[in-house]
Amino acid sequence: MGWNLFRTKSVGELSEAAERGEHRLQRVLGPKELIFLGIGAIIGAGIFSTLGTAAYGVPGVREGAGPAVVFSFALLGFVCMLAGMCYAELTAMIPVSGSAYTYAFATLGEFVAWIIGWDLVLEYAIGNVGVAIAWSNYFDSLLRGFDIEPPRWLMFSYGDVFQQLASRQASLAEVTAAVGATPEAIQAATSRVAEMQAIVDGAPKLWGFDVIVNVPAVVITLAITWLLVRGVRESAKANNVMVWIKLGVLALFLGVGAWNVNPDNWKDFAPNGWAGIHQGAAIVFFAFIGFDAVSTAAEEAKNPQRTMPIGILGSLAICTVLYMVVGLVATGLVPYQELGSGADPLAIALKNFPAAQFIVSLGAVISMAAVLLVFQYGQPRIFYAMSRDGLLPKVFSKLHPKYKTPHVTTIVTGFLVAIAAAVWDDDAAYDLTNIGTLSAFAIVSLGVLVLRVKHPEIHRPFKVPFIWVVAPLSIGACIYVMLGLPIHAWERFGIWLLIGLAIYVVRKLTMKPDPTPAR
Ligand code: ALA
Repeated sequence: MGWNLFRTKSVGELSEAAERGEHRLQRVLGPKELIFLGIGAIIGAGIFSTLGTAAYGVPGVREGAGPAVVFSFALLGFVCMLAGMCYAELTAMIPVSGSAYTYAFATLGEFVAWIIGWDLVLEYAIGNVGVAIAWSNYFDSLLRGFDIEPPRWLMFSYGDVFQQLASRQASLAEVTAAVGATPEAIQAATSRVAEMQAIVDGAPKLWGFDVIVNVPAVVITLAITWLLVRGVRESAKANNVMVWIKLGVLALFLGVGAWNVNPDNWKDFAPNGWAGIHQGAAIVFFAFIGFDAVSTAAEEAKNPQRTMPIGILGSLAICTVLYMVVGLVATGLVPYQELGSGADPLAIALKNFPAAQFIVSLGAVISMAAVLLVFQYGQPRIFYAMSRDGLLPKVFSKLHPKYKTPHVTTIVTGFLVAIAAAVWDDDAAYDLTNIGTLSAFAIVSLGVLVLRVKHPEIHRPFKVPFIWVVAPLSIGACIYVMLGLPIHAWERFGIWLLIGLAIYVVRKLTMKPDPTPAR
């Protein structure tokens, strides 16, 4: 049949493809813009929403870290720094669009590249489903602060409501039984169960189904899509403003929170020992995703050899330190069980400071919009690269005649994310995103090693020090974090890979012979 699953593209070939006339993107982003692009992608639903689940866990599904979530952050900072160095070496060498997908093509061949590209859909598109739902949760809290209460069945996703109903009911039993559970924690869990039940009871029925549709998640996703179709320059500027806002909001949280910590809340520091820290890390890993999104902009970066490592490692370092302090302060403000009793843990932590709580909720809404922006920006560019390599139809690499953006893929991604966010469950989206992203990180780390062996002669503007220690450690560390995810995530991931395999086979059966000579 002439399939060449191990066909690779040389570094030169990839760069040439990037420079070819009609498909060329414009180089407009400098180091500051790239660090901001990274922070814009990193700080979001992970710290604003999954922190609660990481600290408290989900009874029967996962153990929580308690205040030791700060160790989960430290562990992840270390893991991501290893993977980040590998990304930085590759992005500096091969500064083209497409992120891990492109590097896999250059190192491990077409088939692995396809699998990685397929994993990256989990990271970018499914990740955005989780972020859009979290955005809607905080938006809802804000509206309620103004006494505006739209019909509840228009504010939540179907899957989210039923998942929360099940887990919060279990959590209610556990909170009630927990030694030292405060009346507030019990009250918070009780009211969450009642709130979810009321949504189900109030929802209109259609053919026996409860109609529960997350309208705000749909609207924000489509608005961001429109912004991105309009062009990268404007979007990056909007992102810069949002990053200042999110740093300011976290600083406010720390400024108010740090003086009001009750050290008693830290007494049971690691209630589930290392298992809790590990499983907490597996969900809060979502908070770190994004530094690699910087690499998807390599074709639009000025002097990428220097600016890409700065963008990736700089944004990662800033966020790790910030997260550790926020985790410590949040678990010091209220008992960690309480943090897990709602979808807005930072707002819960500030329950005694209404003004700060309002500003932080507003900041969360703005921050998560920034994350949506960067991920909606990244996904189409990966599709764009895959299309340019012939793995997706050519229409995916068309640029808009006026705005010069990959508008077809931007619009397709926007609609798919909006539909999923309308009905799915955020925890499931986070888990699937994390497992897909971690496996992509592991493959990228392997790719750096392969390229060092196969092409030691290529100039590397940034070289990972002690590569034979760092890359294998990075692979092992990513797999280790994946092992902290619940079994459902593994099952869904397996199904996802099978679907990807089927699409690959169909595409190969239907596409014209590959003009690129095998190496
Ligand atoms: N790291 C991003 C977030 O937390 C994906 O929203």
